[in-house]
Amino acid sequence: MEGLQLIATGGAQPSRVVTNDDLSRIVDTSDEWIVTRTGIRQRYFCSDEENAATLAIAAARQALERSGLSPEQIGCCVCATLSGPNATPSVACQVQRALGLPENRPALDVNAACSGFVYATAVARGLLLTLGGKYALVVGCEALSRLMDMTDRSTCVLFGDGAGAAIFRLADTPFAATLGARGSDAILTGGPNRAGSAPIQMDGRAVFRFAVEALPRCLHEVLDQTGKTLEDLDWVVCHQANGRILDHCIKHLNADPAKFYRNMDRHGNTSAASIPVALNEMAENGQLVPGQYLACIGFGGGLTWAGMLLQYKGANQ
Ligand code: UT7
Repeated sequence: MEGLQLIATGGAQPSRVVTNDDLSRIVDTSDEWIVTRTGIRQRYFCSDEENAATLAIAAARQALERSGLSPEQIGCCVCATLSGPNATPSVACQVQRALGLPENRPALDVNAACSGFVYATAVARGLLLTLGGKYALVVGCEALSRLMDMTDRSTCVLFGDGAGAAIFRLADTPFAATLGARGSDAILTGGPNRAGSAPIQMDGRAVFRFAVEALPRCLHEVLDQTGKTLEDLDWVVCHQANGRILDHCIKHLNADPAKFYRNMDRHGNTSAASIPVALNEMAENGQLVPGQYLACIGFGGGLTWAGMLLQYKGANQ
């Protein structure tokens, strides 16, 4: 009983849609440049009333309802974010309170930037194995619009806000995870610091080179750990940073592009939220079918990278 199965998902997106044309009225850019370089057509930004915690609570509530579980059955709550509204209470503690999760269970935030959701899932599995419990609530949530310099065209066109949530069950099932980190502030940095909040800054080309190396490596590692091949997978759900990163990796892997889910055209790069937002869309669209195997791969700031391979079971399986 040491693997995790995905049994339910939830999602929440902010009310405000921001198109590429909207951004071209703020900075010197164009829909054509953004679509060609990134595949992004629009993204969602939080209104004044919304933040990473309000989105996390909505997504987590939906996932819990769909799982058919009671709050008492949730063994831990782990939220991946780098843009929570407060250092404390953590987003996870705000979710615990809003959903009435048991007080004798851990709730904590994990910051591993765009690898955060996979990191948080691995942390949740470790907590279940250490403390007992069968079900984990894991959320990825971001309000990156609060961390962007809206005069910097090289970053403000890339990121968006959103949240996705997942309920996992500890089970006797194929499962693998790989996590890694290489501390560096040379190519991607930003966010709250002692002096206030520094906008996200990025050397886009260096991040691109890092991503196209890390993504296939993580995928191969989880395949090797489980003895599966790419053909055995129904889906590869990668961090939705940029369509060109996926194109490059698919070509390098000689993989079927249809297995690689994409939604960056509608959401932009939502960092830790991107993988669970994608999983939730796939479940809602009926693209995720109980019994399917999927790999989730994250890469980003830190630098961090993370992969996991698991089975989707659905709530009543
Ligand atoms: O979660 C990880 C997050 N990060 C990423 O996924 C980023 C990975 N990197 C990338 O996807 C690409 O590097 C970018 C999409 C960020 C940039 O594409 P690029 O082809 O590497 O462009 P570049 O940075 O080399 O810039 C090319 C030109 C420059 O103009 P000059 O110097 O050639 O005249 C930039 O100033 O494009 C210009 N540029 C823009 N033009 C219009 C940069 N941003 C924009 C913009 N609109 N928004």
